Amino acid sequence: MKNKDILKTGIPGLDEIFEGGIRRSNSILVSGCPGTGKTIFSIQFLYEGARMGEPGLYITTEEKASEIKSYANSLGLNLEKFEKKGLIFFCENLFRDSVKLISLETPLKTIKTKNIKRVILDGLTLFEYLYSDNINEYRRGILRFLSQVKQTNATLLATSERSNLDFNNISYKPEDFLFNGLIFLAAVRKGYSFERVLTVVKMRGQKHSINLYPFSIGHGGIKIHTKQIPFSLEKEF
Ligand SMILES: Nc1ncnc2c1ncn2[C@@H]1O[C@H](COP(=O)(O)OP(=O)(O)OP(=O)(O)O)[C@@H](O)[C@H]1O
Ligand SMILES: [Mg+2]
Repeated sequence: MKNKDILKTGIPGLDEIFEGGIRRSNSILVSGCPGTGKTIFSIQFLYEGARMGEPGLYITTEEKASEIKSYANSLGLNLEKFEKKGLIFFCENLFRDSVKLISLETPLKTIKTKNIKRVILDGLTLFEYLYSDNINEYRRGILRFLSQVKQTNATLLATSERSNLDFNNISYKPEDFLFNGLIFLAAVRKGYSFERVLTVVKMRGQKHSINLYPFSIGHGGIKIHTKQIPFSLEKEF
């Protein structure tokens, strides 16, 4: 792969897992239970792009753009600075009421006119609100959006919720099959606490590690400890 075709995620440790980075124009789904770090992951991905001069768009389904910005600030990632420079854009209030989507035309137009290179969709629940009672329409809705973003050559990172993630018995969701890449974030119980772990389930057309890695959240966001084995799994070795 040529250097210009590779995108650095900006998550310390992740590009190493991907042996350099990910292919541009791919779609990646970051999936996990509540509080596992999906939004922080998204913020870092966009921040890294802006830092490299690549315009990014944050589409937020449930939180306000102002909440995302102050969340990022609390991690030491100043998105507002890049917003002022025209390198980061937000799209919020997608629903007129709780179910009626205004349009995905607005974010798609922003992607084209602002030459957006990185798109965040946080999260896919957007499509659940729209097609909750029709699984085929749900899949088709997501696929349509994926193909519209792909046409612009932007790289898409979406988040999705899981209510349960047992690594010994994973039940996959329909959207897991639709994206080029799939990353699971989880908290695995170890004694009286939990340990954060990450694994890359798939990345079509690219070699990557399939290990489970421990990660931490702190100033700057997520940091993956690629040289460590999760404590929670230590006994198995
Ligand atoms: N500044 C910080 N320092 C350390 N840990 C933090 C910090 N900010 C957040 N966290 C941890 O990160 C977790 C949340 O991460 P995040 O908001 O990305 O989760 P999420 O997967 O998007 O959750 P949800 O599904 O509810 O949207 C918090 O529950 C907290 O444990
Ligand atoms: Mg979130």
